[in-house]
Amino acid sequence: MLGAGLALPASWLSRCTMARIPSEVGRHFPPGFHWGAATSAYQIEGAVHIDGRGESVWDRFSHTPGVTKDGATGDVACDSYHRWPEDLALLKRLGVNAYRFSIAWPRIQPQGAGAPHRRGLEYYARLVDALLEADIQPLPTLYHWDIPQALIEAGGWPNRDTARRFSDYASIMGRALGDRVRRWVIFNEPKAATGYGYLPQHREPCGTDALQHLRASHVINLAQGQAFAALKAIDPRLQASSAFDVSPMFPASDSELDHAAAERFHRFQNLWYLTPALEGRYPSGVIPPERLHQLLDFREGDEQDVRADLDFIGLNYYSRFFVRHAPLASGIPGLDVDPHWGAAAAENRTDLGWEVYPQGLYEIMARIHRETGGQRPLYVTENGAAYNDAPGPDGRVRDSRRIDYLRTHLRTLDRAIADGLPVRGYYCWSLLDNFEWLQGYRARFGLVYVDFDHEQRRVMKDSAAWYARVAASNGRHGLGGPAEPGP
Ligand code: FCB
Repeated sequence: MLGAGLALPASWLSRCTMARIPSEVGRHFPPGFHWGAATSAYQIEGAVHIDGRGESVWDRFSHTPGVTKDGATGDVACDSYHRWPEDLALLKRLGVNAYRFSIAWPRIQPQGAGAPHRRGLEYYARLVDALLEADIQPLPTLYHWDIPQALIEAGGWPNRDTARRFSDYASIMGRALGDRVRRWVIFNEPKAATGYGYLPQHREPCGTDALQHLRASHVINLAQGQAFAALKAIDPRLQASSAFDVSPMFPASDSELDHAAAERFHRFQNLWYLTPALEGRYPSGVIPPERLHQLLDFREGDEQDVRADLDFIGLNYYSRFFVRHAPLASGIPGLDVDPHWGAAAAENRTDLGWEVYPQGLYEIMARIHRETGGQRPLYVTENGAAYNDAPGPDGRVRDSRRIDYLRTHLRTLDRAIADGLPVRGYYCWSLLDNFEWLQGYRARFGLVYVDFDHEQRRVMKDSAAWYARVAASNGRHGLGGPAEPGP
């Protein structure tokens, strides 16, 4: 299935399946490997009305009755806006050397335009300085889905002007922090930002308004290209990319039609924001060429504006898709797919029902590496699992399933590095249990437990102690052998 669906180079395939000597497991992480944890602003900060922050699309959306589980909102979340020193202390205890967080655009430009808000800039400058002081490399994300509501009202992502607004904001942040922050993530999951993340405006799953969705995808590509150029104009040494949401695509059956559908969906899901950046064009074979430019509102000069010679490739990986040929199902002309997450036995699923499929990390990294020229460093910018373990009577959170999950994925990564993939870092999603979008507080992804009923009290889970050991030993400890019950 792997070979047929993904067309990996034969050498990688054979090496991928080769057994390794157990004592070698975890020994391939290069010196200086980034062991990180990740979060995002709306999911952890809270303090939505503090210090002049403007309204974001997610404030508006989460307050809409019936939308999130239990009517949850990010109003307080982990209260990290106030408790960031405590979170910094957690990062130090974890011993990670990198932290990925996101900047809330509405804290910087409450209305999405105009002069930057001093308090917002100061907040992130303090955080960055404290991270550097602790020898933790900051990896800020400029956009993790919290577009200012004012810009949604001006047309949102389908409006081409939003790209200009976004690159102004990128430029503000580059000027404010570029002397200290070397690496930047422009978009978190551009695909989700226009599909699932675009949901707030449409109140429907992506695809119900295919035209708006496609236009938004093109404006996000323009915004990515322009923000990349804006950062480079400040200092060409700044390194920038996005965190692309990727999954290996498997045909739902052996039929030729399903094989072709899986390939189309790979291009639409995994490459739609990479190929324009690197080649100035959209992946072929998805939308009929005679309709593509009209559907995207692609104008003369856009082939230059979407370009970004990405310095690295950030990949968020959670699971795989199975894809069925289904004419007109997606609403995107020519796409004709019906994708669904893999089915698996209960013990092979997380508490959100997502299939645990560690080798998919290797498969998709290898494929994306090859299809983006085989030169760029790779970072796993997100990977992790929802397991809702709570503290026992002794206060300890025994989340051994998370340890298993992380161990199997990190072993896969170790193998990928041994096989020559230039992976330079891994960011566990997430540092903290947090506001998981539509799931509210019901899906716990954290290495650290957050008690949302008792003043956001933090408790390091067993997985945190385990991850600390892995990070401290650069992968030499914790990855071999079967699952250990505790840290
Ligand atoms: C990713 C998002 C992140 C979090 C994880 C579980 O798609 O980037 O914010 O919700 O999923």
